[in-house]
Amino acid sequence: KAGNLAPTPPMGWNTWNTFQTNIDEPLLKGMVDAYVSSGMRDAGYKYFVLDDGWMTMERDKNGDLVADPKKFPNGMKAFADYVHSRGLKFGIYNCAGSKTCAGYPGSRGHEYQDARLYASYGVDFLKYDWCNTDSLNAREAYITMSQALKASGREITFSLCEWGNHQPWLWAGGVGELYRTTGDITASFDTDKHHGTWTALSVMSIVDKQPAIAKYNGPNHWNDPDMLEVGNGMSFNEDKAHFSLWCMLAAPLAAGNDLRKMSPQTQSILTNKAAIAIDQDALGIAASRIYQADSLEVWAKPLANNEVAICFLNRSASTKQVTYNWNDHAVKNEANHIDIDFTKASYKLHDIWANKDMGTTKKEFKQTLAGHSVIVVRLAKL
Ligand code: DGJ
Repeated sequence: KAGNLAPTPPMGWNTWNTFQTNIDEPLLKGMVDAYVSSGMRDAGYKYFVLDDGWMTMERDKNGDLVADPKKFPNGMKAFADYVHSRGLKFGIYNCAGSKTCAGYPGSRGHEYQDARLYASYGVDFLKYDWCNTDSLNAREAYITMSQALKASGREITFSLCEWGNHQPWLWAGGVGELYRTTGDITASFDTDKHHGTWTALSVMSIVDKQPAIAKYNGPNHWNDPDMLEVGNGMSFNEDKAHFSLWCMLAAPLAAGNDLRKMSPQTQSILTNKAAIAIDQDALGIAASRIYQADSLEVWAKPLANNEVAICFLNRSASTKQVTYNWNDHAVKNEANHIDIDFTKASYKLHDIWANKDMGTTKKEFKQTLAGHSVIVVRLAKL
């Protein structure tokens, strides 16, 4: 039976996308401070997560993991205390295999011992990776760690990271609260990056994997399309489209940019209240793609109180005209018994990024959409 640690998609910040294993206490304390001063915490972000690279290369003589004393001279408990003292929750990383992806000691065979150690640090969230797992059974390996966390005496949100290879949407309920659905993201709108043996996925590649599994999404059971690349090199419009789509998908929101150096534009995206409200909506339904033609797409996400979020997306690099007659496009979500017929009920429209009202669904929707950009409207019944 599912727990209740993540009734809405978890929100936080993670070290990996910007820093990989180049992390240490002074850097991260600065990040915690920036997390608060930039308004991220007040916008609803809660977790501060250390990804791969926090440990020494060997366990100690008792078999315990050791926080790298060069990176964390005061130990991990002291750092966790610092995170907590700023009103945030603390997350850490390990891997189901014998080693993490970056070669640090994995948890295989040490699951209960590691869970106890995390609890002693004050860990609130564990991301659990899938490198060096040989012939391990994924479901069983994640259940083992899940049970170890439950036995640790501390409530620890569990984030599965086996990249969607073993269809976690079918079995992760009750094991963890969120599960990766794909390989790793990269800060690219629609071009994958090939790195020899693996491919880093563009925003659009990841988005295209989501409709098939949208119906599995829900409270305490989140499809995770990977961490955010907002502020990591894409254009303002692309970052806005990326963030909007994650919110439409009711995805976990893990920022991955350098919070100490974020531009006002990046900050305006990551802390946009109206976008976050769509992500965090109580129903927890992932948007479905209700229209697709000539690089234009329309995504619809049913919200609580009979509201709806609609995202118009221009996937192409060139500007396009959108002409959309609401009456021709019902919003249906069979898994959630939702069926909105705009010929029967009219809605008023609010553009969440421009923060302005845009008329009603009685009139055709006509807008110009720049390349790689979105318009997101929130609909409420007239
Ligand atoms: C693979 C994961 O998918 C990434 O998010 C990151 O955790 C790296 N491993 C760390 O090695």
